[in-house]
Order: sequence, then C-alpha cells, then structure tokens
Amino acid sequence: MSETTSAAISEHQGTLTTQQVVELTKKFNYGTWRFQKTWNPMHIADAEGCYFTDGAGKRYLDLSAQLMCVNLGHKNPAVIAAIAEQAEALAYAMPTYATEARAELSQLLLEVLPEGLTKFFFTTSGTDANEAAFKIARMYTGKTKIIARYRSYHGSTMASIAATGDPRRWAMEPVGGKGQGFLFAPEVNCYKCPIKHTYPSCGIACAEYLEHMIRNESDVAAVIVEPVVGTNGVLVPPKEYMPRLRQICDAHGVLLIADEVMTGWCRTGKWFAMDHWNVVPDILTTAKGITNAAIPLGLCATNEKIAAYFDDHFFSHGHTYEAHPLTLAPGIAAIQEMKRLKLAERATEMGAYLGEKLREIKPRHRSIGEVRGLGLFWGVELVKNQGKKNPFNTGEDKIAGKPLVVDRVAAKMMGAGVFIQAWMSHFVIAPPLIISKEEIDRGVAALDEALALADAEADA
Ligand SMILES: Cc1ncc(COP(=O)(O)O)c(C=O)c1O
Repeated sequence: MSETTSAAISEHQGTLTTQQVVELTKKFNYGTWRFQKTWNPMHIADAEGCYFTDGAGKRYLDLSAQLMCVNLGHKNPAVIAAIAEQAEALAYAMPTYATEARAELSQLLLEVLPEGLTKFFFTTSGTDANEAAFKIARMYTGKTKIIARYRSYHGSTMASIAATGDPRRWAMEPVGGKGQGFLFAPEVNCYKCPIKHTYPSCGIACAEYLEHMIRNESDVAAVIVEPVVGTNGVLVPPKEYMPRLRQICDAHGVLLIADEVMTGWCRTGKWFAMDHWNVVPDILTTAKGITNAAIPLGLCATNEKIAAYFDDHFFSHGHTYEAHPLTLAPGIAAIQEMKRLKLAERATEMGAYLGEKLREIKPRHRSIGEVRGLGLFWGVELVKNQGKKNPFNTGEDKIAGKPLVVDRVAAKMMGAGVFIQAWMSHFVIAPPLIISKEEIDRGVAALDEALALADAEADA
C-alpha cells in the first residue's frame, strides 16, 4: 500500500475504527436485496484505478467495477476535479433554469449517443431514467402496456421493478401491487433458449413471439430491452435480433426503449451497445458509467418525434434534482476522459483478451456451462450438469436466502484479493475499462483456482 493510500485511509476513517464503521452501518442501514441478519458489509476505505482497499489496508482487484459502473477506474482525477469545481461554481439550480453544465453536457451527448436521440431528461439513477421512459412512452403513444423480458433488471422503483423480469420483482406482486400494464416476453438466450429453439434455425423465434404478443395485447406503448442483458447473465443477442425487433416495433407503432444503464459508456466496445447493430431506439436510458459512478446521474434520451410531441402537450414529469449541476459537470468530464483514453477501442481490445483467457480455463472446469461476452462485459455461467445445463442455484434460492455456490466462489476470490460480481448461478465480469492484461491474468487465475469449489459440486 502506498503512503498516499494509507494517509487517505486514516483521513477517511476519522475517529471510527473499521469495526465501528461496519457495526454502525449494519445496525442503522438496510443491506440491499438480502436477509439483514447475515449482512456483514466490508469497510471500503479507498479506491483507485482498478483497485479498492478495505479498512485493514488489503487491496482488491475490482473485476466488476463495483456494480459494473466505474468504467474509467476509481478516482478518475478529471471527474473528481469536475465535481469539486462545479460545487464551488454552482452547487444547485432548480430544473426550470438553464445552466452551463446542462448546455455543455447536452451538446456532448449529441456526439456520442446513437444519432437521432436529441432531447434529454436528466435523472439521478437508472431506475428513474426508466420511470421517465415509461411515462414518456405512455404520454406520447396514449397507450399503456410495456413489454419487457423475463431475464431482465430495470431498477427498483415501482414501475421499473414491475418491468423487471428477475425474482427481485416477486416481493412487489402480492403485497405491493405490481405496477399496471407490464408484460413479459421470453428473453434471448441462445445457450439455454426459454422456448427450446436453436439458433440460427430458430429464425429468431423469441423476437417473432414478441410480435405475437404485441398483436394480441393491443394497447402496447413500448418494448424495453437491455441490449446485452447485464446482471441476469450477460446475454448477447444474435446479430439479427435487434434489427428485427426494430422492424416489429415500427410495424406496430410501438416504441423501442434501450436500457443501456449497464451497457453504455464503452462497456461493450462501442459508446452504446445498440451501436453494434446500428439500431437506434426511440428512447435510450442510461446511468452508472455516465459519471463514472462518482455522482448519481441518469439520462432518458428521446428522439425528435417524441420531443416534438411535447412542444404542444404537457410534459408531466420532473424532480427537484433533475439536471442538478453537480451531477452534470462530472458527466462532461467523464465523456471527455472516455474520448481521450479511446475507451471503446480499449474495451474491444482488452475484452478480446479477457474472452480468450476465460475460454482457456473453461475446459478445465466441469462447472462452467458457458463463457460469453461483448467488449469488456463477460458472463461465466455455472452449471451443475453440463449436458442438462441446470444451474447450481435458482431465483427461488436467492430469495430464500440460501447459500449460493457462486457466492462461495466469489468469497474465495475475495480471500485472494479479487472482487467479482456473482448472481444466482453466474458471474458478471466487467472491470474498469482501463484494466491491463496483467490484471486480467491475475483476475482469471483467481477465478480458475476458486472454481474448484464449484467443480466439486458439479456432476461428474
Ligand atoms: C440494466 C439496468 N437498468 C436499470 C438499473 C437500475 O439502475 P440504478 O441502480 O441506478 O437505479 C440497473 C442497475 O443495475 C441495470 O443494470
């Protein structure tokens, strides 16, 4: 640990010991998506580049950029400086006003977003970017229903969780009352197709089924997709899927919403994942990497037709913190940094290397079902039986608070100083896009070793 790092740690710790930090956090805060009794949060004291440091000074390689959001690496100096400067210059202005940060970020967004997305609503997270998208879609089309897909996550607030296909939605259904009008289509998953087809002979049946749903439901305002499904397994669609989905939506006057909260900001080797298929959604939502996650900012970007509609119709949406100057200034700095570092190109190059390394270890592990990814966004799916492709654990296990095999593997990796995101029966590997080949080697070696735990439980 460098002297600067230890100085930073003692400064951050102030008068509290690590034990106090953990105990006070546990006692007075909710741990997300879990039973509270077993929550034992680690004290993070510092983070820089591809590493973070705990209260005892141990450094961890961050193989998932925390929540797949620190794309430029921790503590990017330009982003940090932009926050400090904006705080001095103008810390808050209500959304009614124009500010320099707002104007400058809007101009920059036009340079990087898929062409045609030209009107912006700024939020403070991914979930409220999606809330804005749903309200805008309903106001613009005058229709109600939103079709999402089963393997998806779109956020935790009421409409976004109602549009979420994964088990985090379940708790809201009987008690909280799921938001009205959200329906689910089969996801695109060529490794384990939910409708038991095989690509390419399937003719993208999962997209065709979506058209069947639109026809029979009527009143469909929009379809929302994660262009590459993130938390739910890094599912990359075949090349025909997005163009076909665009055609279907156009044919039925249904809006296409791309949720690029996780896939945006160079993660997949392009500014936005939709760029891989040259498909422009009607609405694009994003957050996370937009400020390198250093400040909470989300974005709901719409096309010109939608924008024009609201010239003469009441735009019935807003927040106190919409277009908050302190959130926008680091967005400008983050985009400039991504350009300077040629981050998309870097993600393509390092992503190919990471994919190669993951594929190399696959034959050694009977617990690995599939390795898949795009750019620096990779999933490793674990299975109990390679032939049957059945997972070690399911959504039911997660919600019941059962110990998961992937969590044990991740814990073993933490012991070796490598952090990885685990979900149900797979890992999401999405490091800061500045990661080096040596760091990738170290991360994959830790996974290779820890997977012995899963191999021991897989069928022979
Ligand atoms: C694809 C996707 N959409 C929406 C969200 C919600 O974003 P937030 O946690 O900022 O509300 C997430 C969060 O992980 C996400 O991955």
